[in-house]
Amino acid sequence: MAFLELKGLTKRYGALTVVDHVDLAVEKGNLVCLLGPSGCGKTTTLRLIAGFIDPDAGEIRVGGRVISSGGFSEPPERRKMSMIFQSYALWPHMTVRENIGYGLALRKLPRTDIARLVDKILAVTRLQALSDRYPGELSGGQQQRVSLARALVVEPETLLLDEPLSNLDANLREEMRFEIRRLHDEYRYTTVYVTHDQAEAMTTADLIVVMNLGRIEQVGSPEEIYERPQSEFVARFLGGTNILKGRRLDADTVECGSVRLRCGDGDFAGREDAVVSVRHHDIVLTPESREEGLNWAKGTVVRQVYLGSHRDYLIELPGGEQVRTIAQADLAIERGKPVWLHFPMQHCRALAR
Ligand SMILES: Nc1ncnc2c1ncn2[C@@H]1O[C@H](COP(=O)(O)OP(=O)(O)OP(=O)(O)O)[C@@H](O)[C@H]1O
Ligand SMILES: [Mg+2]
Repeated sequence: MAFLELKGLTKRYGALTVVDHVDLAVEKGNLVCLLGPSGCGKTTTLRLIAGFIDPDAGEIRVGGRVISSGGFSEPPERRKMSMIFQSYALWPHMTVRENIGYGLALRKLPRTDIARLVDKILAVTRLQALSDRYPGELSGGQQQRVSLARALVVEPETLLLDEPLSNLDANLREEMRFEIRRLHDEYRYTTVYVTHDQAEAMTTADLIVVMNLGRIEQVGSPEEIYERPQSEFVARFLGGTNILKGRRLDADTVECGSVRLRCGDGDFAGREDAVVSVRHHDIVLTPESREEGLNWAKGTVVRQVYLGSHRDYLIELPGGEQVRTIAQADLAIERGKPVWLHFPMQHCRALAR
């Protein structure tokens, strides 16, 4: 049995259903990411789990026990959860040490126990040297670590993180992703992590839940979600992919304008309208002329950019479709020149529209 279970969880604001019959099972000790665009209901789902708001339908169970259902709701302070908000919400007049110990002091633990637990978490989050500073004297990343430490020190059963890295610059964000995963591996709290950043989800999560308009689009490991998106929305949202619209010629072949693509993967039972998803880096580009046949197309270079490790090409096909692909850095083909593209069958995924 899963540790945290959401069943038919639904939340409405007026006429708008912002969380729509969400079913989700999180195993104990797993880190699950809710990934989706702005407004898709991630924060609302997290607040329902924390108990700050109540659902209109459905239920939430922890360890098999119902903590929220129609008419019943266990108050947040009894749920043994810690939530980290997008803004760190540190107390400005308390030092790092006092901020971290605050939750323990509220629980009226003896001073010596508080000191011991705070020291331990200061070491784990590498904050010892900063323990007597005030939040105003810390960088964004350091404040972030303090808010993590403060959430961890109370030893929650469940950790809820709402876009915890969104205020950091790109470098620090990347570093903190690994930090969060490292802390997770050390403590193994059951964690729900909300983000709209694909790379963040892929680095930290055991399981990714892609949300769209209050519903779950797909649940899977980072590899499953990336390699085998089940819908056009998921393929697009994960980025780095071309979506070619077309119609089916037979179960596994889709005609997308001027190119016919036999697909090695995907949904073959769908309707006549189909899209093919193929990643930029899976398309092979060559300046040597080829016969155009199945999974081959002739195109024209619209632009190309040198990016050090490779070149990024935008190619226009005869039907006007544009395709992004990459090539080795020393393959420089001028704008307007013809090229031939190969779409390897095993990398073409047919999806229903
Ligand atoms: N208290 C509220 N009253 C009315 N509508 C609300 C309320 N809270 C959220 N919403 C609406 O619910 C939808 C989902 O909001 P939510 O905050 O869960 O999105 P999100 O996925 O966290 O987005 P973001 O990535 O921008 O933080 C939005 O359309 C939002 O405007
Ligand atoms: Mg949000």
